[in-house]
Amino acid sequence: MPLRVRLTLWYGSALALVLIVFSVVLYVIIARNLRDAVDQSLEETATTAVRSLEMRGFLPLLDEEELLSQFPELARIDKFFQIFSPSGTITIRSPNIKQHEVPLSRIALETAFKGQTILESATYPNEPPLRLISVPINYRGRLLYIVQVGTSMQSIEDTLDRFLILLLVAVPVALAVSLAAGWFLAGRALRPVDSITLAAQRIAGGDLSQRLTMPPASDEIGRLAGTFNNMIGRLDASFQQIRQFTSDASHELRTPLTVMKGETELVLRKPRPLEDYHSVLESNLEEIDRMSRIVEELLFLSRADMGEVKMETLPVALEALVEDIHRQATLLGQDRQIEVVLGTVTPALVLGDELRLRELLLNLVENAVKYSHPKGKVRVSLVSDGRQAILSVADQGIGIATEDRPKIFNRFFRTDVARAHTKKGTGLGLAICAWIVEVHKGRINVQGEVGHGSTFTVTLPLVPRPS
Ligand SMILES: Nc1ncnc2c1ncn2[C@@H]1O[C@H](COP(=O)(O)OP(=O)(O)O)[C@@H](O)[C@H]1O
Ligand SMILES: [Mg+2]
Repeated sequence: MPLRVRLTLWYGSALALVLIVFSVVLYVIIARNLRDAVDQSLEETATTAVRSLEMRGFLPLLDEEELLSQFPELARIDKFFQIFSPSGTITIRSPNIKQHEVPLSRIALETAFKGQTILESATYPNEPPLRLISVPINYRGRLLYIVQVGTSMQSIEDTLDRFLILLLVAVPVALAVSLAAGWFLAGRALRPVDSITLAAQRIAGGDLSQRLTMPPASDEIGRLAGTFNNMIGRLDASFQQIRQFTSDASHELRTPLTVMKGETELVLRKPRPLEDYHSVLESNLEEIDRMSRIVEELLFLSRADMGEVKMETLPVALEALVEDIHRQATLLGQDRQIEVVLGTVTPALVLGDELRLRELLLNLVENAVKYSHPKGKVRVSLVSDGRQAILSVADQGIGIATEDRPKIFNRFFRTDVARAHTKKGTGLGLAICAWIVEVHKGRINVQGEVGHGSTFTVTLPLVPRPS
């Protein structure tokens, strides 16, 4: 069932329930109040009558003229009265009742003998319902007579009937009008959802550059559209990244393959001395090494993406690691007379995976050596500020342009300067470094200027000292 129908039905049912309960309660209260008012007026009239009779010393009344002159209030058009003897027979009654017999009921007589007043309802065929009050008049412990005052309930019943009809008409009309309004409002409220659905269908059709038009209000629908646009934006970005990545990867793998193919074809064209084959095979081996390195690093990154790389979480003494790496880097730099020096090294204990941290540091130092000029200097240092360990690797090499800095952690990104500087490199090392830093809840930054070297800084949280 569509949401609009369901909303309207729910709303309609709730409203119908409220209206019905409200009408019933209203009707009952009004009926009770009207009837109570009649009873009260009957009681007041009867009390007045009894008081007047008392003032007359309970002398029996002679006739109705006398009665009327005694109690003018009894002759009011809407009330009639009768006086019964203790045997229950009528002695006197007001003229406005002459045409009907309204005998004293047995219960009224019995109650009168007990000395109590009684209120009764009486109905006669083809007559309006009556309300009667019967008051006993006692004199010296003996029942003298019974005064009965009565009135027709016709007007009240008429009023109630009219009110009932009004309710029976008004409630369904109100319900119908509200249902129509509810249907209209639900439709209006849901219209943006429809337009979002349509737009989402277009986007799902493949056009990720599409965005939903944002409704002007920042209500639920506005937020939905915003969230949706955000999601599409991120999807768009990651699809683009994947496309970029795939094309970069194929490109990076194609280059060594082309080189290998060209060299191999050339050398095979005619018989050659053994050294030629040897040198081609050596060059091929270099390319193969490069390709295996790319494939291995890619494999690592994709396993990292899928959360499949196992990570230890043990205390690692960074100062020992730094000293170790320093030894390795010194060997790396020897060929090009690059000096790797140790700066300040203070002890620092972090939680993590020693192998990964070693890889991180080695990558940074390798880069520093690789992108240094001959006879350059690379400085590795480690300090701690009480809460974080700060590792830095500084070189005096080619540097990185400001606009390239955010990109160097992307997969396969290599600056043009770096490509011109050396063929060695895959552009994946820093992506791996960024991942390692991230899983260790640290940060990695780079500073420096083109031509004036770069400084990579890694901050890692220290193992909290037991306090
Ligand atoms: N120490 C450095 N000095 C200058 N540029 C650097 C340095 N380290 C990294 N870069 C730049 O960042 C790029 C990405 O580094 P990386 O991912 O390690 O790839 P690779 O070392 O294979 O070139 C490098 O190609 C280079 O342009
Ligand atoms: Mg590298």
